[in-house]
Amino acid sequence: MQTIKTCREMREWSEGQRLRQKRIVLVPTMGFFHEGHLQLMREGRKRGDLVVVSIFVNPTQFGPNEDFKSYPRDLERDRKLLANEKVDLLFHPSESEIYPDGYQTNVEVDELSQYLCGAHRPGHFRGVCTVVNKLFNIVRPHVAVFGLKDYQQFLIVRRMVQDLNLDVDVVGVPTVRESDGLAMSSRNHYLNKTERVAALCLRKALFQAKELVRRGERSRSAILEQVAVELKKEPLARVEYIEVCDTENLRPLEAFRDKALLALAVHIGGARLIDHTILRAAG
Ligand code: PAJ
Repeated sequence: MQTIKTCREMREWSEGQRLRQKRIVLVPTMGFFHEGHLQLMREGRKRGDLVVVSIFVNPTQFGPNEDFKSYPRDLERDRKLLANEKVDLLFHPSESEIYPDGYQTNVEVDELSQYLCGAHRPGHFRGVCTVVNKLFNIVRPHVAVFGLKDYQQFLIVRRMVQDLNLDVDVVGVPTVRESDGLAMSSRNHYLNKTERVAALCLRKALFQAKELVRRGERSRSAILEQVAVELKKEPLARVEYIEVCDTENLRPLEAFRDKALLALAVHIGGARLIDHTILRAAG
C-alpha cells in the first residue's frame, strides 16, 4: 500500500487517477482503527475504484483541555489493518503540511454546530469542517464515507458539502458496536475494566427510552427524565448532555410525532463517550 505525506503529491496522484476515469473514495480518520473504521473502508470499496484513507489527528478540533496530546496513535498497527483491507492509499500528512505557518482560514456551519456536542465543545465542528474541507480539496474524492456514530458530524459535513457546492457524495455508515452493544470508539481505549462495564449504561439508557416510546410516550421531559434516572444508576457516569431533537435540523423538540433523535454524551473515567438512537413512533 502506498503512503503519501504531502498535499502536492496527493493532488498529483488524484489528478492522475481522475484522468484515468477512476472513482476515488476517501475515508477521513484520526487513526487507531477499530472495526467501525474498517466498515467505512469496506463501504468505500463498494462505492468506487480506489479507496484512500487519511490519518490525521486534527489539532483544531480539540479544545484546550481535551485529549489531543493523549489521543491514541499506533501507525504501524493501522498500516497492517489498511493492507488487510486492501486500501489503495494512505494519506498521512504532518501538522505543518495541513496548517503551515500563517494559516488563518476556517469553515463553519452555523446552526447545526450550536447543538449537542457543539454546545459543549466550542470550536470543535469548526475544526472538523475546516479539515474535512481541506481533505476534500487535497484528495479530490468523488465519494467520502463517514460514520453515523458521529451523527451530528455527519449532518454538518453533509450541510457543508451542500452549502459550498462541493462535488463530493457523502455516504453514512451505521454505528458498529461491540458484541455487548457499546459503540466502538478509539476513546474506548481509555476505559479500564470497571469503566468498560460502566460504559454499557449509555446503551441501556437508550434502550429504556426506546421502550418508553414503544409504550406511547412522546414528550421530551418524560424521555429525558427516564434517561437521566437510568444513567444515575451508574456511579461512574457523569452526564454532559441528554437531548431529544429533530433528526435533520437538530432543534430541540418538546414532543414528537413520528421520530426524534435521542443523543447523549457521558464521561466515564477519562473517556468522553457519545451515543444516540432514533426514536420512532412506529416500532
Ligand atoms: P475518527 O473519530 O477517527 O472517526 C473516523 C470516522 O469513523 C468518522 O466518520 C466516524 O464517524 C467513524 N466511526 C467512528 N466510530 C465508528 C463506529 N463505531 N461505527 C461507525 N463509524 C464509526 O471522526 C473523526 O475521526 C474526525 O472528526 C474526522 C472526520 C477524521 C475529521 O478530523
